[in-house]
Amino acid sequence: MKIGIDAIEMDTPDFYVDLVKLAKVRGDDPNKYTIGIGQDEQAVPPSSQDIVTLGANAAAKVLTPASRASLGMILVGTESGVDASKSAALFIHDLLALPEWVRAVELKEACYGGTAALMMARDYVASHPDKSVLVIAADIARYGLATAGEVTQGAGAVAMIVKADPRLLTIEPDSVYRSASINDFWRPVYQDTALAQGKYSTEQYLAFFKTVWERYQADHHLSAHDFAAMTFHLPYTKMGKKALDLVLPTTDDASAQRLKNRFEASTRYCRQIGNIYTGSLYLGLLSLLDHDTTLQAGDRIGLFSYGSGAVAEFFSGILQPQFKEQLHAAEHAQQLTKRKELPVPEYEAVFSDKVPYDADDYRPDPAYYRGQFILTGVIGQERHYEKHQS
Ligand code: HMG
Repeated sequence: MKIGIDAIEMDTPDFYVDLVKLAKVRGDDPNKYTIGIGQDEQAVPPSSQDIVTLGANAAAKVLTPASRASLGMILVGTESGVDASKSAALFIHDLLALPEWVRAVELKEACYGGTAALMMARDYVASHPDKSVLVIAADIARYGLATAGEVTQGAGAVAMIVKADPRLLTIEPDSVYRSASINDFWRPVYQDTALAQGKYSTEQYLAFFKTVWERYQADHHLSAHDFAAMTFHLPYTKMGKKALDLVLPTTDDASAQRLKNRFEASTRYCRQIGNIYTGSLYLGLLSLLDHDTTLQAGDRIGLFSYGSGAVAEFFSGILQPQFKEQLHAAEHAQQLTKRKELPVPEYEAVFSDKVPYDADDYRPDPAYYRGQFILTGVIGQERHYEKHQS
C-alpha cells in the first residue's frame, strides 16, 4: 500500500523584517546575512500569533470534508508549545471544530518533531488504511535581539494530510535515523529564547547528515544520481547548502547541476520566512514543489531532517501522478507579497511585546491581529483564542 502526503499547506505571520536593514542597524555587513547566512527576510510574529494560531491557519487550508471525515489523529510537532501539559493539538482541534473520535497529541524533539509526527502518521495509516492523519509542524524561532542567532529566527507552520494512496508524495519505507544526546541547542523551560553553541551545532548538523546519508546509500543501494532533488532542514539556507556540498562531489556533473538548481528552489520560502524549526524541512519541500516546474511524477525526492539534541533522519518520497493538482503556488506567493514590512525599531518592539512567563493577565495589541485565528489574551492563566476575520 502507498502511504504519504496527500496535501500540504503553510502559514506564516503577515509581518517581516528586512535583513539588509537589520544588518545595518546591528553594524554588520549585509552580505553576511544574505550570502554568509543566506537569508533575506524574516517573519515577525506578533504576540497574538503563536504555534496554535499558525498551526490552525495552516491546517484550515489543508482540510477538506473528506479528510475531516476520515481523520484518526492530529499530531503537532513543535518545540515552542504553549503549555507544558495540554497538547497544542487540542487547542487546534477546538478552533477547527474537528471530530471528537480522534487522538490529539503534541510531539517534541527540537526541529525533528515534525518528522516524528509524519513517521508516526505513516505507521498509523499502515494499520488503519481507511484513516487520515493531520500532521502540523509549527514553531516560532527566537534567539533574542542582537544575538548571533537573531538572523536565523523565523515563524510559521506547515500542515499535511497523510493517508493511503496520496495524491502528492509517497513516504517510502526507507528511513535511516540516528539519535545521540548532545548539547548543541536547547531552550530551558523558563524562557522563550533558545540557546545554541552556534558553530558546534552546524558541525553536528553536518556530521549527522554525513552518517545517515552514508548509511542510507549502503542500506538501499541508492546514490545522489537516483534523486531528482534533495531537501534539507533549513535553519538558514547556507546550512542546507553546506550539507548538499558534501553530496555534489560524489555524483556526475548533470546530477550535481540538477540537485543544485532544485536545492535553490527549495530555499526560496526559507529565505523570506526564516527558520520555522519543525516545519522547516517541509517548508523547503513545498518551496521546491511550488518553484520548480520541471519535476515529474515518479521523481524521487530526498528529505533530511535534523533536530538538535540530536535526532536525524534521511528518507525519500516519490511524486505521484496528480501531484501538480495538489499545489497552490500562486496563493503562497500572494500570502508572502501581502506581508507588511516592519521597520527595525517596530520589529524590536513587536519582538519584546510577548506573553510573559508569569501569572499576570496579558492581552496582545489588537493592531497586529491578522489571520483566521488569533490569541486574544491569557486571562487567569488560561489562553483564549478566537476566530478572527482579517
Ligand atoms: P555567527 O558567528 O554570527 O556567524 O553565527 P559566522 O561568523 O559563523 O558567519 C556566518 C557565515 O557568514 C560564515 O560563512 C562567514 O564566512 C560568512 P561559513 O564559514 O559558515 O560558510 N560571512 C560573510 N559572508 C559574506 N560577506 C560577509 C561575511 N561575513 C561573514 N561580509 C550561526 C552564525 C549560524 C552560528 C548563528 O546564527 C547561530 O548560532 N544560529 C542558531 C543556531 C543554528 O541555526 N544552528 C544551525 C545548525 S543546528 C540546527 O539546524 C537545529 C536548529 O534548527 C534547532 C532545532 O533543531 O530545534 C537550530
